[in-house]
Amino acid sequence: MRLTFTIQRFNPETEFHSHEEDYRLEVGRGMTVLDGLIRIKNEQDGALALRYSCRSAICGSCAMQINGAEKLACRTSVRKELERHGRIVVAPLKNLPVIKDLVADMSSFWGKVREVTPWLLASRKTEPEQPAGQMTLAPGSYQFHNVDACIMCGACVAACTSHEVSKGFLGPAALAKAARFLSDPREAAASKLARLVELEKENGIWDCVRCNFCVEVCPKDVKPMEAIIRLRRAALEAGLTSSGGARHVTGFAEIVQHEGRLNEALMPLKIVGFNLRRLLRVVPLGIKMLLKGKVPNPLAPPIPGIAQIRSIFSAARRRPATS
Ligand code: SF4
Ligand code: SF4
Ligand code: FES
Repeated sequence: MRLTFTIQRFNPETEFHSHEEDYRLEVGRGMTVLDGLIRIKNEQDGALALRYSCRSAICGSCAMQINGAEKLACRTSVRKELERHGRIVVAPLKNLPVIKDLVADMSSFWGKVREVTPWLLASRKTEPEQPAGQMTLAPGSYQFHNVDACIMCGACVAACTSHEVSKGFLGPAALAKAARFLSDPREAAASKLARLVELEKENGIWDCVRCNFCVEVCPKDVKPMEAIIRLRRAALEAGLTSSGGARHVTGFAEIVQHEGRLNEALMPLKIVGFNLRRLLRVVPLGIKMLLKGKVPNPLAPPIPGIAQIRSIFSAARRRPATS
């Protein structure tokens, strides 16, 4: 079968804007998008830049946009893409600078991974039966929730809504990596707390908007958003409740527990607290909400059946803490 690959080309050294180029190619059964790109490079256009290594979904270097979604080219079947989209359009990963053509600049990605200290911190003592310097994990003593399967491909960061508008956000891959060390039983509690203190700062765990895109695109089922939720829970359980994000979560829960429903009129107070400067900043929003009839009566009584809602909260509080 003969088909067209449409490839986004861009050389920032000689061009101001990217453009698309079409390549006709004979494709066989079982061909992946990466196979097609390599053939185009070898047979038609040696100047095409792309990054790949293992060709087996292991090294993470061939992540790119294929028909608008972040995927590994080496495990994306041409036939399936054609069946789903009727075309093959390839571009570099979104929201990252382009070095050339399909090669995204991953410097900021690696910088953020380094920021979360991706190694074990001050560790517990070696168990007596282990040789000096070794700290193996006993089977069943840990639960990494598959975050250790990450191949650092960057697909989740490219798809991340929060990263799109805030380039400083640590991002799903780095935060998932941090969650892996937080669940490691060999790391001392004080080190874990130090991690959480760093992670709950601006651009950290509370900047995720829970869009779930990182979960959808991850080729290794790492589920970074769920890792971020575990980090948030750990931060709250460690008593780190003063950041805006933490106050939003705890304030939301307090209002629902008290009234049985969300009262938007009280949320800004819960989030900013009694800090006058911050309160003044939310006043314009409050006035807009009031004018549009979006401010419920702050003195409204709780809903009927509030006792049941409160018993759910009590039961949740009795649940053992999770890592
Ligand atoms: S869920 Fe959070 S981390 Fe994942 S893509 Fe959305 S904003 Fe980014
Ligand atoms: S979490 Fe998934 S998508 Fe993100 S870098 Fe790791 S393997 Fe790639
Ligand atoms: S070439 Fe290694 S993951 Fe695709």
